Amino acid sequence: MSESPLDWISAPAGPLRGVLRVPGDKSISHRSIMLAAIAEGTSHISGFLEGEDTRATARAFAQMGVNIEAPAPSERIVHGVGLHGLHAPRAGVPETGHGDTGSGVGGIPIDCGNAGTGMRLLAGLLAGQQFDTTLVGDESLSRRPMRRVIEPLAQMGAHIQAQPGGLPPLRIAGSAALKGIEYTLPVASAQVKSAILLAGLCAAGETLVREPHPTRDYTERMLATFGWPIEFGVGWARLSGNHRLRATDIVVPSDFSSAAFFIVAATIVPGSELLLQAVGMNPRRTGLLRALRAMGADIVEIDARELGGEPVADLRVRAADLHGIDVPSDVVPDMIDEFPALFVAAAAATGKTRISGAAELRVKESDRIAVMGAGLRSLGLAFDESPDGAIITGGTLAAGAVDSRGDHRCAMSFAIAGMLASGPVRIGDCANVATSFPGFVELACSSGFDLR
Ligand code: S3P
Repeated sequence: MSESPLDWISAPAGPLRGVLRVPGDKSISHRSIMLAAIAEGTSHISGFLEGEDTRATARAFAQMGVNIEAPAPSERIVHGVGLHGLHAPRAGVPETGHGDTGSGVGGIPIDCGNAGTGMRLLAGLLAGQQFDTTLVGDESLSRRPMRRVIEPLAQMGAHIQAQPGGLPPLRIAGSAALKGIEYTLPVASAQVKSAILLAGLCAAGETLVREPHPTRDYTERMLATFGWPIEFGVGWARLSGNHRLRATDIVVPSDFSSAAFFIVAATIVPGSELLLQAVGMNPRRTGLLRALRAMGADIVEIDARELGGEPVADLRVRAADLHGIDVPSDVVPDMIDEFPALFVAAAAATGKTRISGAAELRVKESDRIAVMGAGLRSLGLAFDESPDGAIITGGTLAAGAVDSRGDHRCAMSFAIAGMLASGPVRIGDCANVATSFPGFVELACSSGFDLR
Protein backbone atom coordinates (compact mmCIF):
# COMPACT_ATOMS: atom_id res chain seq x y z
CA MET A 1 0.00 0.00 0.00
CA SER A 2 1.25 3.50 -0.80
CA GLU A 3 2.21 6.06 1.84
CA SER A 4 0.06 8.61 0.00
CA PRO A 5 -1.32 11.60 1.93
CA LEU A 6 -4.79 10.27 1.21
CA ASP A 7 -4.28 7.46 3.72
CA TRP A 8 -5.73 7.69 7.21
CA ILE A 9 -4.56 6.21 10.49
CA SER A 10 -7.30 5.31 12.93
CA ALA A 11 -6.01 4.43 16.39
CA PRO A 12 -7.76 2.83 19.36
CA ALA A 13 -9.69 5.54 21.19
CA GLY A 14 -12.91 6.37 22.92
CA PRO A 15 -15.36 6.59 24.48
CA LEU A 16 -17.37 8.72 22.05
CA ARG A 17 -19.21 11.63 23.58
CA GLY A 18 -21.08 14.70 22.46
CA VAL A 19 -23.86 16.15 20.34
CA LEU A 20 -23.32 15.93 16.58
CA ARG A 21 -25.09 16.97 13.42
CA VAL A 22 -23.99 15.20 10.24
CA PRO A 23 -24.27 16.85 6.78
CA GLY A 24 -27.30 16.85 4.49
CA ASP A 25 -28.76 13.81 2.76
CA LYS A 26 -26.98 12.93 -0.48
CA SER A 27 -29.98 11.38 -2.25
CA ILE A 28 -32.25 14.32 -1.45
CA SER A 29 -29.56 16.89 -2.33
CA HIS A 30 -29.08 15.41 -5.84
CA ARG A 31 -32.82 15.39 -6.47
CA SER A 32 -33.36 18.89 -5.10
CA ILE A 33 -30.94 20.39 -7.63
CA MET A 34 -32.36 18.34 -10.51
CA LEU A 35 -36.00 19.20 -9.92
CA ALA A 36 -35.33 22.84 -8.99
CA ALA A 37 -33.34 23.22 -12.24
CA ILE A 38 -36.23 22.08 -14.44
CA ALA A 39 -38.92 23.83 -12.38
CA GLU A 40 -40.37 27.21 -13.26
CA GLY A 41 -39.23 29.91 -10.84
CA THR A 42 -36.70 30.21 -8.05
CA SER A 43 -36.22 27.45 -5.46
CA HIS A 44 -34.28 27.73 -2.21
CA ILE A 45 -32.48 24.66 -0.90
CA SER A 46 -31.15 24.57 2.63
CA GLY A 47 -29.14 21.77 4.23
CA PHE A 48 -27.65 20.95 0.79
CA LEU A 49 -24.80 18.45 1.02
CA GLU A 50 -21.53 20.17 0.06
CA GLY A 51 -20.12 16.85 -1.12
CA GLU A 52 -18.27 16.24 -4.37
CA ASP A 53 -21.10 14.04 -5.72
CA THR A 54 -23.88 16.57 -5.22
CA ARG A 55 -21.72 19.49 -6.32
CA ALA A 56 -21.01 17.58 -9.55
CA THR A 57 -24.76 17.43 -10.14
CA ALA A 58 -25.09 21.17 -9.50
CA ARG A 59 -22.19 21.83 -11.88
CA ALA A 60 -23.92 19.74 -14.58
CA PHE A 61 -26.99 21.98 -14.48
CA ALA A 62 -24.87 25.13 -14.45
CA GLN A 63 -23.25 23.78 -17.64
CA MET A 64 -26.75 23.34 -19.08
CA GLY A 65 -27.65 26.98 -18.47
CA VAL A 66 -29.14 27.00 -14.96
CA ASN A 67 -28.18 29.89 -12.70
CA ILE A 68 -27.37 28.45 -9.26
CA GLU A 69 -26.31 30.74 -6.42
CA ALA A 70 -24.58 29.61 -3.22
CA PRO A 71 -25.28 32.45 -0.76
CA ALA A 72 -23.87 30.45 2.17
CA PRO A 73 -22.49 26.94 2.78
CA SER A 74 -25.23 24.30 2.34
CA GLU A 75 -27.56 26.89 0.77
CA ARG A 76 -28.48 27.02 -2.91
CA ILE A 77 -30.79 29.31 -4.83
CA VAL A 78 -31.73 27.67 -8.12
CA HIS A 79 -33.30 29.73 -10.90
CA GLY A 80 -35.22 27.01 -12.71
CA VAL A 81 -35.48 27.07 -16.51
CA GLY A 82 -38.52 24.81 -16.93
CA LEU A 83 -38.76 21.28 -18.32
CA HIS A 84 -37.63 22.33 -21.80
CA GLY A 85 -35.28 25.22 -20.87
CA LEU A 86 -31.93 23.37 -20.55
CA HIS A 87 -29.35 23.71 -23.30
CA ALA A 88 -26.45 21.51 -24.43
CA PRO A 89 -23.68 21.53 -21.78
CA ARG A 90 -20.95 24.15 -22.18
CA ALA A 91 -17.37 24.22 -20.98
CA GLY A 92 -15.81 26.74 -18.63
CA VAL A 93 -18.91 27.21 -16.50
CA PRO A 94 -18.35 27.91 -12.79
CA GLU A 95 -20.24 25.68 -10.35
CA THR A 96 -22.37 28.60 -9.21
CA GLY A 97 -23.40 31.74 -11.03
CA HIS A 98 -25.05 32.09 -14.38
CA GLY A 99 -24.70 29.09 -16.65
CA ASP A 100 -24.71 31.28 -19.75
CA THR A 101 -21.25 32.60 -18.88
CA GLY A 102 -19.72 29.39 -20.25
CA SER A 103 -17.75 29.21 -23.43
CA GLY A 104 -18.01 26.84 -26.36
CA VAL A 105 -20.88 25.76 -28.55
CA GLY A 106 -22.21 23.05 -26.26
CA GLY A 107 -21.93 19.31 -26.31
CA ILE A 108 -19.01 18.82 -23.95
CA PRO A 109 -19.29 15.84 -21.55
CA ILE A 110 -20.93 16.11 -18.14
CA ASP A 111 -18.66 14.72 -15.42
CA CYS A 112 -20.69 12.90 -12.75
CA GLY A 113 -17.55 12.18 -10.71
CA ASN A 114 -18.08 9.24 -8.33
CA ALA A 115 -21.87 9.50 -8.30
CA GLY A 116 -24.02 6.61 -9.48
CA THR A 117 -27.10 8.55 -8.43
CA GLY A 118 -26.00 11.56 -10.48
CA MET A 119 -25.33 9.53 -13.63
CA ARG A 120 -28.39 7.25 -13.51
CA LEU A 121 -30.89 9.99 -12.68
CA LEU A 122 -29.37 12.35 -15.26
CA ALA A 123 -29.63 9.60 -17.89
CA GLY A 124 -33.40 9.53 -17.32
CA LEU A 125 -33.81 13.26 -17.12
CA LEU A 126 -31.73 13.96 -20.24
CA ALA A 127 -33.16 11.13 -22.37
CA GLY A 128 -36.12 13.35 -23.34
CA GLN A 129 -34.21 16.60 -23.96
CA GLN A 130 -33.64 18.11 -27.40
CA PHE A 131 -29.81 18.03 -27.28
CA ASP A 132 -27.19 15.25 -27.14
CA THR A 133 -25.25 14.63 -23.93
CA THR A 134 -22.36 12.45 -22.84
CA LEU A 135 -22.13 11.40 -19.18
CA VAL A 136 -18.71 10.43 -17.86
CA GLY A 137 -17.48 9.45 -14.41
CA ASP A 138 -14.37 8.62 -12.41
CA GLU A 139 -12.63 5.24 -12.39
CA SER A 140 -15.13 3.72 -9.94
CA LEU A 141 -18.24 5.03 -11.71
CA SER A 142 -16.80 3.90 -15.05
CA ARG A 143 -17.00 0.29 -13.76
CA ARG A 144 -20.62 0.46 -12.61
CA PRO A 145 -23.48 -1.22 -14.50
CA MET A 146 -25.67 1.10 -16.56
CA ARG A 147 -27.70 -1.46 -18.53
CA ARG A 148 -30.21 -1.40 -15.69
CA VAL A 149 -31.17 2.15 -16.74
CA ILE A 150 -30.43 1.89 -20.47
CA GLU A 151 -32.86 -1.00 -21.03
CA PRO A 152 -36.00 0.59 -19.57
CA LEU A 153 -35.12 3.98 -21.06
CA ALA A 154 -34.68 2.34 -24.49
CA GLN A 155 -38.13 0.80 -24.08
CA MET A 156 -39.38 4.36 -23.63
CA GLY A 157 -37.73 5.33 -26.93
CA ALA A 158 -34.43 6.75 -25.66
CA HIS A 159 -31.23 6.35 -27.66
CA ILE A 160 -28.37 5.68 -25.24
CA GLN A 161 -25.03 4.15 -26.14
CA ALA A 162 -22.70 2.72 -23.53
CA GLN A 163 -19.30 1.06 -23.63
CA PRO A 164 -19.03 -2.73 -23.94
CA GLY A 165 -20.61 -4.38 -20.89
CA GLY A 166 -23.07 -1.51 -20.51
CA LEU A 167 -20.47 0.71 -18.82
CA PRO A 168 -20.05 4.52 -18.88
CA PRO A 169 -19.51 6.87 -20.64
CA LEU A 170 -23.16 7.12 -21.74
CA ARG A 171 -23.99 8.92 -24.98
CA ILE A 172 -27.57 10.11 -24.94
CA ALA A 173 -29.03 11.24 -28.25
CA GLY A 174 -31.40 14.20 -28.03
CA SER A 175 -34.77 14.66 -29.71
CA ALA A 176 -36.00 11.16 -28.89
CA ALA A 177 -39.80 10.94 -28.75
CA LEU A 178 -40.35 9.18 -25.43
CA LYS A 179 -43.45 7.25 -24.52
CA GLY A 180 -44.49 6.06 -21.08
CA ILE A 181 -44.02 2.41 -20.09
CA GLU A 182 -45.13 -0.03 -17.45
CA TYR A 183 -41.97 -1.52 -15.94
CA THR A 184 -41.20 -3.93 -13.13
CA LEU A 185 -37.69 -3.47 -11.81
CA PRO A 186 -35.58 -6.66 -11.85
CA VAL A 187 -33.58 -5.37 -8.84
CA ALA A 188 -34.75 -3.11 -6.03
CA SER A 189 -33.11 0.18 -7.07
CA ALA A 190 -34.26 3.71 -6.32
CA GLN A 191 -31.82 5.00 -8.91
CA VAL A 192 -33.38 2.95 -11.71
CA LYS A 193 -36.92 3.77 -10.57
CA SER A 194 -36.01 7.46 -10.46
CA ALA A 195 -34.38 7.43 -13.92
CA ILE A 196 -37.58 5.99 -15.41
CA LEU A 197 -39.83 8.46 -13.58
CA LEU A 198 -37.66 11.42 -14.64
CA ALA A 199 -37.77 10.23 -18.27
CA GLY A 200 -41.54 9.94 -17.81
CA LEU A 201 -41.72 13.72 -17.28
CA CYS A 202 -40.99 14.25 -20.98
CA ALA A 203 -42.80 11.12 -22.22
CA ALA A 204 -46.18 10.86 -23.90
CA GLY A 205 -48.70 9.01 -21.76
CA GLU A 206 -48.37 7.21 -18.47
CA THR A 207 -45.28 5.71 -16.82
CA LEU A 208 -45.79 3.08 -14.13
CA VAL A 209 -42.89 1.56 -12.16
CA ARG A 210 -43.19 -1.44 -9.84
CA GLU A 211 -40.39 -2.63 -7.57
CA PRO A 212 -39.68 -6.07 -6.09
CA HIS A 213 -39.05 -4.43 -2.71
CA PRO A 214 -39.93 -0.82 -1.89
CA THR A 215 -36.95 1.56 -2.14
CA ARG A 216 -36.39 5.17 -1.07
CA ASP A 217 -39.20 7.31 -2.48
CA TYR A 218 -37.53 10.72 -2.53
CA THR A 219 -38.10 11.28 -6.26
CA GLU A 220 -41.81 10.60 -5.89
CA ARG A 221 -42.18 12.79 -2.81
CA MET A 222 -40.19 15.64 -4.30
CA LEU A 223 -42.05 15.56 -7.63
CA ALA A 224 -45.26 15.97 -5.62
CA THR A 225 -43.69 18.85 -3.64
CA PHE A 226 -42.83 20.58 -6.94
CA GLY A 227 -46.48 20.19 -7.98
CA TRP A 228 -46.18 17.37 -10.53
CA PRO A 229 -49.24 15.07 -10.47
CA ILE A 230 -47.98 11.68 -9.27
CA GLU A 231 -49.50 8.72 -7.49
CA PHE A 232 -47.35 6.36 -5.48
CA GLY A 233 -47.54 3.77 -2.77
CA VAL A 234 -45.39 1.06 -1.24
CA GLY A 235 -43.55 -0.54 -4.19
CA TRP A 236 -45.10 1.42 -7.08
CA ALA A 237 -45.28 4.89 -8.65
CA ARG A 238 -47.25 6.30 -11.58
CA LEU A 239 -47.12 9.62 -13.43
CA SER A 240 -47.89 11.03 -16.84
CA GLY A 241 -45.76 13.36 -18.95
CA ASN A 242 -45.75 17.03 -19.84
CA HIS A 243 -47.01 18.85 -16.80
CA ARG A 244 -45.05 21.62 -15.05
CA LEU A 245 -42.85 21.76 -11.97
CA ARG A 246 -43.34 24.83 -9.81
CA ALA A 247 -40.39 26.18 -7.82
CA THR A 248 -40.49 25.48 -4.11
CA ASP A 249 -38.26 25.52 -1.05
CA ILE A 250 -36.52 22.32 0.05
CA VAL A 251 -35.07 21.58 3.49
CA VAL A 252 -32.62 18.65 3.34
CA PRO A 253 -32.41 16.55 6.54
CA SER A 254 -29.15 15.05 7.84
CA ASP A 255 -28.12 11.92 5.98
CA PHE A 256 -28.97 8.71 7.84
CA SER A 257 -26.15 6.97 5.97
CA SER A 258 -23.61 9.47 7.35
CA ALA A 259 -25.09 9.21 10.85
CA ALA A 260 -24.71 5.42 10.54
CA PHE A 261 -20.94 5.53 11.13
CA PHE A 262 -21.45 7.32 14.43
CA ILE A 263 -24.37 5.06 15.39
CA VAL A 264 -22.20 1.98 14.94
CA ALA A 265 -19.11 3.53 16.54
CA ALA A 266 -20.99 4.70 19.65
CA THR A 267 -22.67 1.29 19.93
CA ILE A 268 -19.46 -0.73 19.88
CA VAL A 269 -16.93 1.53 21.67
CA PRO A 270 -17.41 0.88 25.41
CA GLY A 271 -18.62 3.79 27.54
CA SER A 272 -19.86 5.87 24.58
CA GLU A 273 -22.93 8.09 24.50
CA LEU A 274 -23.71 10.28 21.46
CA LEU A 275 -26.66 12.43 20.49
CA LEU A 276 -27.12 12.76 16.72
CA GLN A 277 -29.38 15.65 15.78
CA ALA A 278 -32.12 15.84 13.14
CA VAL A 279 -31.28 12.57 11.38
CA GLY A 280 -33.42 11.67 8.35
CA MET A 281 -35.61 8.73 9.38
CA ASN A 282 -37.32 7.73 6.14
CA PRO A 283 -38.26 4.07 6.78
CA ARG A 284 -36.66 3.05 3.47
CA ARG A 285 -33.31 4.17 4.90
CA THR A 286 -33.31 3.07 8.52
CA GLY A 287 -32.97 -0.71 8.20
CA LEU A 288 -29.66 -0.49 10.09
CA LEU A 289 -31.57 0.48 13.25
CA ARG A 290 -33.69 -2.68 12.95
CA ALA A 291 -30.60 -4.83 12.50
CA LEU A 292 -28.59 -3.20 15.30
CA ARG A 293 -31.50 -3.32 17.75
CA ALA A 294 -31.95 -7.03 17.00
CA MET A 295 -28.24 -7.39 17.88
CA GLY A 296 -28.78 -5.65 21.25
CA ALA A 297 -28.03 -1.97 20.47
CA ASP A 298 -29.29 0.85 22.70
CA ILE A 299 -30.61 3.52 20.30
CA VAL A 300 -33.44 5.82 21.34
CA GLU A 301 -35.37 8.15 19.01
CA ILE A 302 -36.05 11.51 20.63
CA ASP A 303 -38.34 14.26 19.38
CA ALA A 304 -39.53 12.50 16.21
CA ARG A 305 -40.79 15.25 13.89
CA GLU A 306 -41.05 16.39 10.26
CA LEU A 307 -38.48 18.54 8.50
CA GLY A 308 -39.21 19.61 4.92
CA GLY A 309 -41.78 16.82 4.57
CA GLU A 310 -39.37 14.08 5.76
CA PRO A 311 -39.44 12.32 9.13
CA VAL A 312 -36.43 13.21 11.31
CA ALA A 313 -35.45 12.46 14.91
CA ASP A 314 -32.57 12.99 17.29
CA LEU A 315 -30.89 9.67 18.07
CA ARG A 316 -29.34 8.91 21.44
CA VAL A 317 -26.88 6.05 21.09
CA ARG A 318 -25.26 4.33 24.06
CA ALA A 319 -22.66 1.58 23.97
CA ALA A 320 -24.09 -1.93 24.22
CA ASP A 321 -22.94 -5.54 23.98
CA LEU A 322 -23.96 -6.93 20.61
CA HIS A 323 -24.67 -10.50 19.56
CA GLY A 324 -24.68 -11.86 16.01
CA ILE A 325 -27.95 -12.30 14.08
CA ASP A 326 -29.21 -13.53 10.73
CA VAL A 327 -29.99 -10.23 8.99
CA PRO A 328 -33.51 -10.68 7.55
CA SER A 329 -33.44 -10.40 3.75
CA ASP A 330 -36.41 -8.01 3.71
CA VAL A 331 -34.37 -5.41 5.60
CA VAL A 332 -31.49 -5.48 3.08
CA PRO A 333 -32.75 -2.78 0.64
CA ASP A 334 -33.54 -0.49 3.61
CA MET A 335 -29.90 -0.57 4.74
CA ILE A 336 -28.12 -1.15 1.44
CA ASP A 337 -25.57 1.64 2.04
CA GLU A 338 -24.96 0.66 5.67
CA PHE A 339 -23.43 -2.80 5.22
CA PRO A 340 -19.79 -1.68 5.45
CA ALA A 341 -20.58 -0.24 8.91
CA LEU A 342 -22.71 -3.25 9.85
CA PHE A 343 -19.78 -5.57 9.02
CA VAL A 344 -17.74 -3.73 11.66
CA ALA A 345 -20.61 -4.01 14.17
CA ALA A 346 -20.68 -7.75 13.42
CA ALA A 347 -16.93 -7.91 14.11
CA ALA A 348 -17.59 -6.49 17.58
CA ALA A 349 -20.53 -8.82 18.30
CA THR A 350 -20.33 -12.21 19.97
CA GLY A 351 -21.18 -15.08 17.65
CA LYS A 352 -21.99 -15.14 13.96
CA THR A 353 -23.78 -12.56 11.83
CA ARG A 354 -25.13 -13.92 8.56
CA ILE A 355 -26.01 -11.69 5.60
CA SER A 356 -27.57 -12.88 2.35
CA GLY A 357 -29.61 -11.33 -0.46
CA ALA A 358 -27.16 -8.42 -0.72
CA ALA A 359 -25.52 -9.06 -4.12
CA GLU A 360 -26.03 -5.36 -4.96
CA LEU A 361 -23.13 -4.63 -2.60
CA ARG A 362 -20.81 -5.99 -5.26
CA VAL A 363 -21.70 -3.18 -7.71
CA LYS A 364 -21.55 -0.14 -5.46
CA GLU A 365 -18.67 2.39 -5.47
CA SER A 366 -16.56 -0.73 -4.90
CA ASP A 367 -17.35 -4.41 -4.40
CA ARG A 368 -18.15 -3.75 -0.76
CA ILE A 369 -18.24 -7.42 0.28
CA ALA A 370 -14.77 -8.01 -1.19
CA VAL A 371 -13.22 -4.74 0.05
CA MET A 372 -14.55 -4.98 3.61
CA GLY A 373 -13.88 -8.73 3.71
CA ALA A 374 -10.25 -8.33 2.62
CA GLY A 375 -9.65 -5.51 5.11
CA LEU A 376 -11.30 -7.16 8.11
CA ARG A 377 -9.65 -10.53 7.36
CA SER A 378 -6.26 -8.81 7.23
CA LEU A 379 -6.99 -7.50 10.75
CA GLY A 380 -7.58 -11.09 11.86
CA LEU A 381 -11.37 -11.46 11.59
CA ALA A 382 -13.22 -14.52 10.30
CA PHE A 383 -15.17 -13.05 7.36
CA ASP A 384 -16.49 -15.68 4.93
CA GLU A 385 -17.81 -14.24 1.69
CA SER A 386 -20.62 -15.61 -0.44
CA PRO A 387 -21.80 -14.17 -3.78
CA ASP A 388 -24.62 -12.26 -2.06
CA GLY A 389 -23.40 -11.76 1.48
CA ALA A 390 -21.08 -12.95 4.21
CA ILE A 391 -20.83 -14.81 7.49
CA ILE A 392 -18.87 -12.82 10.06
CA THR A 393 -17.71 -14.33 13.34
CA GLY A 394 -17.18 -11.67 16.00
CA GLY A 395 -13.67 -11.46 17.43
CA THR A 396 -10.77 -9.19 18.18
CA LEU A 397 -9.16 -6.94 15.58
CA ALA A 398 -5.39 -6.53 15.29
CA ALA A 399 -3.46 -3.45 14.18
CA GLY A 400 -2.60 -3.44 10.49
CA ALA A 401 -3.19 -1.92 7.06
CA VAL A 402 -6.36 -2.06 4.95
CA ASP A 403 -7.35 -0.56 1.61
CA SER A 404 -10.68 1.23 1.15
CA ARG A 405 -10.22 1.08 -2.65
CA GLY A 406 -11.46 4.62 -2.98
CA ASP A 407 -14.86 3.76 -1.49
CA HIS A 408 -16.02 6.47 0.93
CA ARG A 409 -18.23 4.19 3.01
CA CYS A 410 -15.53 1.51 3.34
CA ALA A 411 -12.99 4.14 4.45
CA MET A 412 -15.29 5.47 7.19
CA SER A 413 -16.18 1.93 8.30
CA PHE A 414 -12.51 0.99 8.60
CA ALA A 415 -12.04 4.14 10.72
CA ILE A 416 -14.51 2.60 13.21
CA ALA A 417 -12.62 -0.71 13.08
CA GLY A 418 -9.44 1.19 14.04
CA MET A 419 -11.06 2.32 17.30
CA LEU A 420 -11.54 -1.28 18.38
CA ALA A 421 -8.28 -2.74 17.10
CA SER A 422 -5.34 -3.58 19.36
CA GLY A 423 -3.25 -0.86 17.65
CA PRO A 424 -3.43 1.68 14.81
CA VAL A 425 -5.02 0.74 11.49
CA ARG A 426 -3.72 2.42 8.34
CA ILE A 427 -6.51 2.92 5.79
CA GLY A 428 -5.55 3.46 2.16
CA ASP A 429 -7.25 5.61 -0.48
CA CYS A 430 -9.62 7.75 1.62
CA ALA A 431 -9.93 10.89 -0.54
CA ASN A 432 -13.40 9.95 -1.78
CA VAL A 433 -14.90 10.44 1.68
CA ALA A 434 -15.40 14.01 0.43
CA THR A 435 -17.96 12.70 -2.07
CA SER A 436 -20.54 12.15 0.68
CA PHE A 437 -19.15 13.37 4.01
CA PRO A 438 -17.03 16.51 3.89
CA GLY A 439 -15.60 17.20 7.35
CA PHE A 440 -15.82 13.58 8.53
CA VAL A 441 -12.34 13.52 10.08
CA GLU A 442 -12.93 16.74 12.06
CA LEU A 443 -16.36 15.63 13.29
CA ALA A 444 -15.06 12.17 14.18
CA CYS A 445 -12.11 13.60 16.13
CA SER A 446 -14.38 16.06 17.95
CA SER A 447 -16.45 13.13 19.24
CA GLY A 448 -13.53 10.97 20.36
CA PHE A 449 -11.99 9.19 17.35
CA ASP A 450 -8.19 9.27 17.03
CA LEU A 451 -8.10 9.70 13.24
CA ARG A 452 -5.32 11.31 11.25
C1 S3P B 1 -29.60 5.90 -4.09
C2 S3P B 1 -30.03 4.62 -4.23
C3 S3P B 1 -29.23 3.44 -3.82
C4 S3P B 1 -28.09 3.82 -2.89
C5 S3P B 1 -27.35 5.03 -3.36
C6 S3P B 1 -28.28 6.22 -3.48
C7 S3P B 1 -30.46 7.01 -4.54
O1 S3P B 1 -28.68 2.86 -4.98
O2 S3P B 1 -27.20 2.73 -2.75
O3 S3P B 1 -26.31 5.35 -2.46
O4 S3P B 1 -30.18 8.18 -4.22
O5 S3P B 1 -31.45 6.74 -5.24
P1 S3P B 1 -29.50 1.77 -5.87
O6 S3P B 1 -30.65 2.46 -6.47
O7 S3P B 1 -28.51 1.31 -6.91
O8 S3P B 1 -29.89 0.69 -4.91
